[in-house]
Amino acid sequence: MNAPAPGVAAGTASAEERALLEKEARYCSYGDTVHYAEHPKIFERCQGSYLHDIHGREYLDLQMWYSAVNLGYAHPAVSAALNRQIGRLPQLACQYLHREKIELAEMICESVERSFGLKGRVQFNVGGAQAIEDALKLVRMRTGRQRMLAFQGGYHGRTLGASAITSSYRYREAYGEFADRAEFIPFPYPFRDGGDAKRSEDRCIGEFERLFAHEYTGAWNPKTGRAEFGALFVEAVQGTGGYVIPPRGYFRRLAAICRAHGILMVDDEIQMGFYRTGKMWAMEHFDCRPDILVFGKALTNGMNPISGIWAREELINPAVFGPGSTHSTFSSNTLGTATGLAVMRILAGGDYAREVPRKGALFLEKLRALRARHREIGEVDGLGLALRMEMCEADGATPSRRLADRMFQIGLEGGLRVGGRTLGLVLDIGGYDKNVITLAPSLEISDPEIELAATLLEQVLLRAKAALASA
Ligand SMILES: Cc1ncc(COP(=O)(O)O)c(C=O)c1O
Repeated sequence: MNAPAPGVAAGTASAEERALLEKEARYCSYGDTVHYAEHPKIFERCQGSYLHDIHGREYLDLQMWYSAVNLGYAHPAVSAALNRQIGRLPQLACQYLHREKIELAEMICESVERSFGLKGRVQFNVGGAQAIEDALKLVRMRTGRQRMLAFQGGYHGRTLGASAITSSYRYREAYGEFADRAEFIPFPYPFRDGGDAKRSEDRCIGEFERLFAHEYTGAWNPKTGRAEFGALFVEAVQGTGGYVIPPRGYFRRLAAICRAHGILMVDDEIQMGFYRTGKMWAMEHFDCRPDILVFGKALTNGMNPISGIWAREELINPAVFGPGSTHSTFSSNTLGTATGLAVMRILAGGDYAREVPRKGALFLEKLRALRARHREIGEVDGLGLALRMEMCEADGATPSRRLADRMFQIGLEGGLRVGGRTLGLVLDIGGYDKNVITLAPSLEISDPEIELAATLLEQVLLRAKAALASA
């Protein structure tokens, strides 16, 4: 498992790696990646919860490609389904039908019906942002309104349409005017509201209600009762926003206000869907039923991508959202649908509704123990296996971006030592102040791997504190 990395010390690059990195610097645009790593790694193999670099060193991955690989890397049943499809029907224009597309749509519709008691239909696209665009088109067509509501801290992708409802101005700044930019409303953040979840919920609901207090807020017409907004885009647990878990009653109250003003609710499950939070759809935790649900990422466990939207029957049936309302050449590609179908069958046959909360509780217990030993961990929380560690200065309250970033860099250097093994740790950072370690381990992570994760997290934290102290 832990193959030696001959002659290559952790954090240093071999001649081969240096040559590749030089080519990357010369030929690759940096526009499509984040380029956060101080010493970029070149990975060559992946299995289960681990990535392996070009030297054979293993890295425990605690973010699983932003939750796209929920079932672990190179899952044998998923790979087998993909291989079978390559041998049988590897490609087909999306205007023609194939079995896996239909059966996958059926499984997703049945899942939404089980979770929310709603009947609807599914259509596919390739990436998450494209599915968000499809949801935007559906909302615009059905409501005749182009303005949307979305959350501060929300992230829905980087196409122009998705950027317009994504809160970061940084993603829009260089690209001119966004006339359809969403109105961004606050998301409850109990840790920053003095740890008082109810106060946080009431404050955010109060601010939302004020939008509809009178006509001069610019949001609605009291005479017709109609708002200027077509839909509210929601992540039940914000991904990029730092895995903040809102109070359980919040979305129900929000949805009631939306309903009263004819505003649809679009549930973006692209990052939190497919049992990340211990339920198939994260919104199930909050007793709130969506009008449109958007999915992507983990549907294919990070293999041939497909994404899509589910919508209530009355919104999306062919009489009201006809053929060609959206289209992409690769939208329901056969390799993606076959992979998606395999993933849905694995999820249906597994015990994820019990196992994910159990593993999440075990992981959270370890994080709480870490927090008890380190004041710099301001808060830990989790819903299923969507877990957060909010890194702060020594006062336990002031956000520490530099500490989170140091931990990320040290993990990726690959020089951590546990019981004779040399490993790396793959982390991701989110949150409004870029100080939250957002943890999305494989849903198949074993209990010993959770133990190892906690040991490695403490090691990177200790090293990061020491590095900052001596800087
Ligand atoms: C909640 C959410 N919505 C939308 C997207 C965009 O998906 P994609 O990157 O596949 O376009 C992401 C991606 O991180 C996401 O987390």
